Parts: sequence; C-alpha cells; structure tokens
Amino acid sequence: MKIAPSLLAADFTCLRTEVEKAEAGGADLLHLDVMDGHFVPNITFGPIVVKAVRKLTQLKLDVHLMIKQPARYLEDFAADGADSITVHAEVCPDLPGIIGQIRTQQVCVGVSLNPDTPVDVLKPVLEQLDLVLVMSVNPGFGGQTFIPSCLEKIRQVRQWIDQAGLKTEIEIDGGIWPQTASEAKQAGVDILVAGSAIFGSGDVAENIRALRNS
Ligand code: DX5
Ligand code: ZN
Repeated sequence: MKIAPSLLAADFTCLRTEVEKAEAGGADLLHLDVMDGHFVPNITFGPIVVKAVRKLTQLKLDVHLMIKQPARYLEDFAADGADSITVHAEVCPDLPGIIGQIRTQQVCVGVSLNPDTPVDVLKPVLEQLDLVLVMSVNPGFGGQTFIPSCLEKIRQVRQWIDQAGLKTEIEIDGGIWPQTASEAKQAGVDILVAGSAIFGSGDVAENIRALRNS
C-alpha cells in the first residue's frame, strides 16, 4: 500500500518543512491538487508550485488536475516536475486523445472519476492507464466526508485490472482516515491519498504510519 500525502492540507507558510516531514515520515509520493475555480469551485495553485516542490524532494509528484482544460497545461506540469498527471474524465470527451497527449510528455497517465461518474467510462481505456483515481468526495476541498459508494467502483476496476493482468494502480482520494483506508484497502486500492489525516493535526510520520497499519 502506498501513501500519498496531499499538500492541500499542509501549512503553506512552511511548505519546505511540510514536504520534508512527509518524505522523512515514509510517504511514497506527494499528491498535488491543482484547482481552477471552474471545474471545481476552489482555486489552488499551478505549475509554479509544482516546480518549487520538485526542488524540495526526491518523492514522485502525483499531480491531480481538477481543471476544465487540462490539455492546455500538460506540457507545463510535465516540464516543472510532475511524475504523473491525472485528468478528470468529466472534462475529457476524447479520453484516448488526452491519454496520448499526457503520454507524449513522458509522465505516468491517470484518469480520475467524480463520485457521480460511472466507472464504465474507464473500461475502454484501462490498459492505457498507469493510474485510476477514484474520488471518494466531490473534488474541490479537503476535509470532507468519505462517500462509501466509491468502494463498489473500486471493486469493479480492481476486477477489470486483475482479469486483464494489468499493472494499472488504483488510487483513492477524499475523506481517507484509518477506518476508511481499511475499507478502501479491502476493496482493492493501491494508493491512499490523504490530506487532513496526515497534515491536519499530530505528527506527520505517526499519521502516515496509522494509515499504513489501518
Ligand atoms: C479534494 C482533493 C484531495 C484532498 C483530500 O478535491 O482532491 O486530494 O486534498 O483531502 P482530505 O484527505 O482532507 O479529504
Ligand atoms: Zn486530489
């Protein structure tokens, strides 16, 4: 099980320290939430912050694009240090097309689904993906409550991946705490994203351990 702390919940007045704590605390990758105020109601940061974080850590940077026009920015995020780029199926009518565009940037390719988006949209493109990101809250904000219906979607994707013998990883994002982490693991998740549960309070390393042992 891999743990991906989401920087959204970190203290941005001391991002360097937060990133160092996550790396020293055993994080497997760092999750960076990019929001544009259009696809989601919130705005966070763009490539400039990815570029800064790239200089602070050896960890892989998992960039989650919650933006309406991801194709316009793929090159920038890749050049600034993303190791994987995940786009939302809801804004990509031509999924094979955008997957090919991300691939051209020589980064890992992810597609994400909102809680209300049926999992079927993934089936035709699954073997082209490194990552499936199942949202377990409506994207836009940290600290929301886990939506249990996402577990059924994870079980389905897990089954498709295993049946086809693919290496595609399943990531879950939103409302992940030790209890929900354990449910997600049982459903077949490979990567847990957690913001509040890691940076919210207490010790980052202990919080990561608690998720890993859940
Ligand atoms: C929400 C983001 C998440 C967020 C999760 O739209 O995609 O990555 O940071 O936050 P928590 O873990 O607090 O639910
Ligand atoms: Zn995210």
